[in-house]
Amino acid sequence: MKKVFFATSNKNKYLEAKAILRSFNIEVEWLKGDYPEIQAESLEEIASFTAKWVAEKTKKAVFVEDAGLFIQVLNGFPGPYSSYVYKTLGNHGILKLLEGETNREAFFISVIAYCEPTSKPATFIGKVNGTIAYEIRGNKGWGFDPIFIPTEGEGKTYAEMGPKNKNKISHRRKSLEKFGAWLSKYYEKE
Ligand code: IMP
Repeated sequence: MKKVFFATSNKNKYLEAKAILRSFNIEVEWLKGDYPEIQAESLEEIASFTAKWVAEKTKKAVFVEDAGLFIQVLNGFPGPYSSYVYKTLGNHGILKLLEGETNREAFFISVIAYCEPTSKPATFIGKVNGTIAYEIRGNKGWGFDPIFIPTEGEGKTYAEMGPKNKNKISHRRKSLEKFGAWLSKYYEKE
């Protein structure tokens, strides 16, 4: 089994990536830590910067993942600021911003950036459309999971679906699948 390092401080992300990449016969090792993140408008730019930084620092082939929740009626907010907004406003704050609003459309994006010490980062994107719930729902999730209802989720929030079912359809599943397929081919060539 080939091994790749996942640089993240987020255990939930690590567990999701580990479960999904296993189906590609790729083992994920957790490079646990807080890594520098730039503030930028594009998730690709943010993830690529961190991946390059960690790869150079550790001299390892690594990937990082950056995600964002984009709410249509808020012109895509919080998007690349999702992490800060989650820490400051949280799910209750988002629901408050949408009070009385019937357009609840939103999407989640996950960007993976893979980088080796001497190469440029390669990026992989996953997107899931959905809506924002009217209240917090479900307790089997983390982050925005209790307020995000994916279109393919039969009306349930990610937090009501639980990790197993979320992992079948999530934005992270989609970016990791692209990454896993690319990495498998890449290893074949080596
Ligand atoms: P980041 O990728 O860690 O910067 O994520 C941005 C914000 O979105 C964080 O506050 C996370 O909690 C949240 N987030 C990222 N991915 C997910 C997810 O799969 N479910 C729920 N919240 C998420």
